[in-house]
Amino acid sequence: MSAIQDIPLFNQSEIVSRYPHQPLKGQKALVTGANSGIGEGTARYLAAAGAAVVVNYVANPDAAVAIVEDIKAAGGTATSIQADVSKEDQVQAMFAQMMREFGTIDILVNNAGLQKDSPFETMTLDQWNLVLNVNLTGQFLCAREAVREFLRRGIKTDISCAAGKIICMSSVHEVIPWGGHVNYATSKGGVMLMMKSLAQEFAPKKIRVNSIGPGAIKTPINRSAWDIPEAEANLLKLIPYDRVGVAGDIGKAAVWLASDDSDYVTGTTLFVDGGMTLYPGFATGG
Ligand code: BGC
Repeated sequence: MSAIQDIPLFNQSEIVSRYPHQPLKGQKALVTGANSGIGEGTARYLAAAGAAVVVNYVANPDAAVAIVEDIKAAGGTATSIQADVSKEDQVQAMFAQMMREFGTIDILVNNAGLQKDSPFETMTLDQWNLVLNVNLTGQFLCAREAVREFLRRGIKTDISCAAGKIICMSSVHEVIPWGGHVNYATSKGGVMLMMKSLAQEFAPKKIRVNSIGPGAIKTPINRSAWDIPEAEANLLKLIPYDRVGVAGDIGKAAVWLASDDSDYVTGTTLFVDGGMTLYPGFATGG
């Protein structure tokens, strides 16, 4: 059976037209893993809302450059920086480059992540380590650099009433166990308590730390779950709202969490999942 659905394309000018009030004007944002999927959507929405955006990528520079050019063509500011978020030296070099080019950071979106699925009994240590290194250690390394800069710079009231904002890209699988994906679910469970512990530690410094917990979003990571009608019908059984999400659903939530409109929100996961975490099987069972 051939794939009949694809990931919807972005229209950057249309996204920009949603934010005439430019809620992120003057802010500098870094989105990791921003050359595809949810990271791309988030980078595009933050840029449309007025932030200058670093589009981080690890492979496929052409995609990152195309996104940067598209953001610029619609009047925004963006640059691309390569770094593997699981490598301390590369993360530190990326932040140093961002400081040189943009001067500071106001918003970190810890998005870069991957899946290496396997039945548990045949999961290799490499599969385990890769997922934990990118999805969890990568978020630690980037959050640490961002916090260091937030503490150094402090609050600039003309930019934001917070000293900085971190948005961790988590998943519904920070709470929904996921057999066959134990490494991935473990990494997202870790992200949840890293996020909450950071939020607790740095709230007195006016640094806000939150997560977005996406459900099933049409991106390359889960293409086989939605790209043919049979697969999509199966997936929709898990989504009470009866549609598969798109990256823009996450981008819109990220703009709000990054803006001063959410100033009293810290240490929480905003699930953007069409109700996937509502245990839809219990609507008729149990
Ligand atoms: C995973 C997707 C999956 C979704 C819902 C996400 O975190 O990356 O592959 O479709 O959760 O299960």
